[in-house]
Amino acid sequence: MPDSLLIAGVSQLLTLRGRGPRRGSALSDLGIIKDGALLVRDGLITAVGTSAQVEALPEAREAEKFDVGGRVVLPGFVDSHTHLIHAASRAEEYELKIAGASYEEIARKGGGILNSVKKLRAATSDALKQRARNALKQFAAYGTTTIEAKSGYGLDVTSELRILGLHRELSAEQPLEIVSTFLGAHTVPAEYRGRAGGAEKYVSLLLEKLIPEVASAKLAEFCDVFCDRGAFTREQAKRILEQGKKYGLSPRLHAEQLTRTGATQLAVQLGAASCDHLEHVNRADIRALAKSRTVATLLPGCDFHLGLQRYAPARQLIEAGAIVALATDYNPGTSPTVSMPMVLSLACTQLRMTPAEAITAATINGAYALRREKRIGSLEVGKQADLAVFDVADYREIPYYFGMNTCWTTMKRGKVIQKPQF
Ligand code: NIG
Ligand code: FE
Repeated sequence: MPDSLLIAGVSQLLTLRGRGPRRGSALSDLGIIKDGALLVRDGLITAVGTSAQVEALPEAREAEKFDVGGRVVLPGFVDSHTHLIHAASRAEEYELKIAGASYEEIARKGGGILNSVKKLRAATSDALKQRARNALKQFAAYGTTTIEAKSGYGLDVTSELRILGLHRELSAEQPLEIVSTFLGAHTVPAEYRGRAGGAEKYVSLLLEKLIPEVASAKLAEFCDVFCDRGAFTREQAKRILEQGKKYGLSPRLHAEQLTRTGATQLAVQLGAASCDHLEHVNRADIRALAKSRTVATLLPGCDFHLGLQRYAPARQLIEAGAIVALATDYNPGTSPTVSMPMVLSLACTQLRMTPAEAITAATINGAYALRREKRIGSLEVGKQADLAVFDVADYREIPYYFGMNTCWTTMKRGKVIQKPQF
């Protein structure tokens, strides 16, 4: 059986086995197997257990062996919120922020998202693609095997379709899975501002032209709206997401990041896959999330990068029973990082999540946020062999070390996509 692969020598195998998304105390259960092994055939896991159990299988004796040398193995991270395609950094704004300007002040002066829109429209598709390719390699280097990617720095028909087309091309040419989200409702573009009814005209463009085109070309699976002060209102978000739903795009939302708008309750009412950020949720919002299947995706990289003190109330969300996930929100304005391990470090020190809770939030609950929990997010028989090997003795060291990369190798569907380092 030459196509089988035995992954052996695993000191701690974090299987994340179990059913359904993890809530409450179930976030702490990593399903750890000490001295574990995995058997993989055609990219799928065929056996998981202790090395004694797995190595005793007839198929294991014929398999090619990959000994990870006593390292820790876990499911590849599922980064369920990124803005992959953008043309350049916004380091110039970073300096202004450090000097005291707020994110919203910068945005009001034409910086912020509009700054990235200007840069993207002027960039060639080749340049955008090359920048994204480099980022994708970095995602893999930090242990990520699946990402969600949003449009939203184009904000006109040609540019938005160009971004979504790049998601598709990149999916086909490199190993990471890219789940595409249409975020035409990121902000109102400059050409629609400063004239009466401009925002409404842009919403009409989204409803009548962009959503139908995106759906008919099957360029996205999800539709997202940035619902906040300075972006879209709750009422506009509702119309956009309902139209998306009508065209087969599942809703997700940027909610309560800068101010509380009631977007969380809207997300729950619409049956959104996730609502993300949540720094300003109130008790009723937390209760609504806890009773729902909408994932509460926390993005502490944003607060860290913007130097904000108010992080999302992760403990309250977990204790209430919400499905908590973690993601990078990789983007040039609020969270320029591809590192899920760094996000885990922030989740532990700033959100007061335990290392086990953070890992669950970054794997199986992230998969659930992308409605892919049947294929990815845990290491169980029948699932994809998407995994990360960390050069640590104990899984808690993954968030414990920060600003350094302890990911040793990454595999997607049983193939090494990031070669063993050091
Ligand atoms: O997720 N909040 C809106 N969108 C991004 C930031 C976009 C930007 O500043 O470029 C976010 O934080
Ligand atoms: Fe975002």
